[in-house]
Amino acid sequence: MLQTTANRQLDILQRLDNLVQRYGKHSSTLIPMLQEIQNAYRYLPEDLLTHVATALDLSPATVYGVATFYAQFSLEPKGKYVIQVCDGTACHVRGSMPVYEAICKKVRLVDGKATTEDGMFTVETVSCVGACAAAPVVTINGEVYGKVTPDAIHVILDTLESRGDTADA
Ligand code: FES
Repeated sequence: MLQTTANRQLDILQRLDNLVQRYGKHSSTLIPMLQEIQNAYRYLPEDLLTHVATALDLSPATVYGVATFYAQFSLEPKGKYVIQVCDGTACHVRGSMPVYEAICKKVRLVDGKATTEDGMFTVETVSCVGACAAAPVVTINGEVYGKVTPDAIHVILDTLESRGDTADA
């Protein structure tokens, strides 16, 4: 059953309060709280950043500064599937950009946006993910696909779509 927005908000606030109780009102509790929010929402909503600042007696600027420093956090909503195309040197010379372009075309990304209109896919380029032997490398929600070609990416994405997943599932 889908969780309502209100229940989801209450749930995350409870989990954030639990983190403060467990680890204390210290600045070192900030990262676990941001991770909890990122995992729940796939990004960091502004109202929750304010809640975190209040809960830890930190300035909003401090919380925002940490949130923007680490690549694992996003201030923008991301798609259900986050596709990262490695564009490190090994992947680049083995054709990561044609793969990236094939993905953007396949998921119908428009106007230079990173996330599709239906909220299903976010497509990003990243630096070396440490699997150079399998270049070019793509990760989808952290799952690594190696030696990816533009044709292979069609099969991979068709498989995801054939599961009948929806953006709000
Ligand atoms: S350059 Fe892509 S995994 Fe290293």
